[in-house]
Amino acid sequence: MSPRAVPATRDRLRIAIQKSGRLAEPARALLAACGLSWRESRDKLFCYGESLPIDLLLVRDDDIPGLIADGVCDFGVVGRNELDEQAGERARAGLAPAYQALRPLGFGQCRLMLAVPDHWEWQGAGQLQGLRIATSYPAILSNWLERQGVEAGVVELSGSVEIAPRLGTADLICDLVSSGATLAANQLKPVETLLDSEAVLAGPVREFDDERAGLASMLLRRVDGVLKLKDSKLLMFRANRDTVAELSRLLPDAEPLVQLPGSGEGPLSLQTMCHGAITWQRLEELERAGAQGLMVLSVERSLA
Ligand code: PRP
Ligand code: ZN
Repeated sequence: MSPRAVPATRDRLRIAIQKSGRLAEPARALLAACGLSWRESRDKLFCYGESLPIDLLLVRDDDIPGLIADGVCDFGVVGRNELDEQAGERARAGLAPAYQALRPLGFGQCRLMLAVPDHWEWQGAGQLQGLRIATSYPAILSNWLERQGVEAGVVELSGSVEIAPRLGTADLICDLVSSGATLAANQLKPVETLLDSEAVLAGPVREFDDERAGLASMLLRRVDGVLKLKDSKLLMFRANRDTVAELSRLLPDAEPLVQLPGSGEGPLSLQTMCHGAITWQRLEELERAGAQGLMVLSVERSLA
């Protein structure tokens, strides 16, 4: 990783995503929903953007922050855990920030946690004094230990962290937990959360001064559009004027009701964009409150 971070002038954007692993598929799905398409290459490392001048680089998640820092890629879809760890390492080495999290993406949720052998009785951070903790996240862990005022040994491992206590190379671990299955299989239990993580769209700290500026703002706007619509549905129904207040109250996660023209006498025709899940139960509740002819429509795209 070089400390330069001076992106060379380019007229195409490059986005790094995980080649395989938990974030790979959702990252591709997000970019496809943003209107990007690619020609899959034979080496499957570089995918040339076809619909837009935006190319993909398929890499290990650990490499993504460095690729952005070095200006090799402009954006990346990466876990906040990886981004924070490498930002922490840079800060500890006295380097300036070279990337930032631009948008949380709502997938890849996991937590960076301390986990101890099952039979331990956990009494808090003070218990860690003088112990050895195995982790792939030494910067986040060291910063946390400093904040707790505890001195413990940090044993850096690049993988298979969860077997360290059994091998005797560490007393406990600090690792990512998603379902908890890995910990359970290794007779470990989670006791402290150091970081709540999810996938983020990461980008450079500086603005582009070439063709990429326009492409980057278009990409961000589309990402926002896709994220906003994730659980959104268009809800249409008819209702008498005297029930509208109660129906609005039942839709706290929806935009203000819009009255459609027409109807004249009789019930109003109404619609709204609802940003929370619309279950059968909610529809039945709306019906009991006076909504008639309820319809839930999927929303494909929006620039609102
Ligand atoms: C993480 C972590 C654990 C596992 C936990 O690795 O290091 O091994 O996931 O998940 P679980 O709680 O659902 O069992 P990951 O698969 O993300 O790979 P990486 O650390 O190599 O990026
Ligand atoms: Zn990894």
